[in-house]
Amino acid sequence: INRIGVFTSGGDAPGMNAAIRAVVRTAIYNDIAVTGIYHGYQGMIEGSFIEMNRRSVSSIIQKGGTILKSARCLEFKTKEGRQLAYNNLQEQGIDALVAIGGDGTFTGADFFSKEYDIPVMCIPGTIDNDLYGTDYTLGYDTANNTVIEAIDKIRDTASSHSRVFFVEVMGRDSGCIALNAGIGGGAEAILLPELNSGIDSLIEELEFAESRKKTSMIVIIAEGDKNGGAYNVAKIVKEKINHLDIKVSILGHLQRGGAPSSFDRVLATRMGYNAVNELIKGNTRGTLGIRGNQIIITPLEEALNNKEFKLDEELLEIANVMNK
Ligand code: F6P
Repeated sequence: INRIGVFTSGGDAPGMNAAIRAVVRTAIYNDIAVTGIYHGYQGMIEGSFIEMNRRSVSSIIQKGGTILKSARCLEFKTKEGRQLAYNNLQEQGIDALVAIGGDGTFTGADFFSKEYDIPVMCIPGTIDNDLYGTDYTLGYDTANNTVIEAIDKIRDTASSHSRVFFVEVMGRDSGCIALNAGIGGGAEAILLPELNSGIDSLIEELEFAESRKKTSMIVIIAEGDKNGGAYNVAKIVKEKINHLDIKVSILGHLQRGGAPSSFDRVLATRMGYNAVNELIKGNTRGTLGIRGNQIIITPLEEALNNKEFKLDEELLEIANVMNK
């Protein structure tokens, strides 16, 4: 391998910069040149490239977002778009790729890599923690810390006014952030897309909490929950338990920003380092992951064929026990 192209794609996540830095420095250490590709697949098609060196990734390990920018690109789904992208890579002399992103990024990488026979290693970067082949994706830990900080603050005002707060958190179809932050933030109830529990059981939980003389309550609602979002849930609950003083807080994109946690920085660095070393070893299509504190590599196709992602059973049980 002579030159690696590195890019970030899909929703940004804290830790992406640390991963870019590790890819660049590991490649250069091994006498491999690196080109940064701006805006993910979009930049590949438009020819938006930058030569990277050790200094171009100085002082980025602590930064949220991605210095290479990100985009969700529809044109890459067309044959013409991918052909343009490949021509541009050829022109740059890029003969291997490191893709940092989520499910959509991996799907594009797998297809493109097979179509043009170009090796690619994928680094899971998304706050949703919804990818097969890893216990943790980059950005998930930081997002959890952000959510917990927000819950703690909401708890202060909730208990001062004896209110019930419905806090909606991100995660797309995954309830990982909701479950984790719900436990860490001591929520009275958590609504998860994976459990698909209705509002009736939530009402029971709230009545139970009231019967135990709780005056303030926090309910975490995953954005993928099927009950129509935090405002809708709040409306229905209010109709059924009229005396509750209910407020809604949708945390939104603040969950995607901020300096990566120590965990995310180290994980990103380990993954970036290993991604380059796998390419050097001749691995052509893989995704990085961490299991039992070991970095593992899963064939990209296997990761993509196993989209069924399950929540940790023990965490589910713990969340249940904590509220009883
Ligand atoms: O995948 C990360 C994520 O933040 C999800 O949690 C959320 O559903 C989605 O991206 C939001 O996407 P956008 O930033 O395009 O609005």
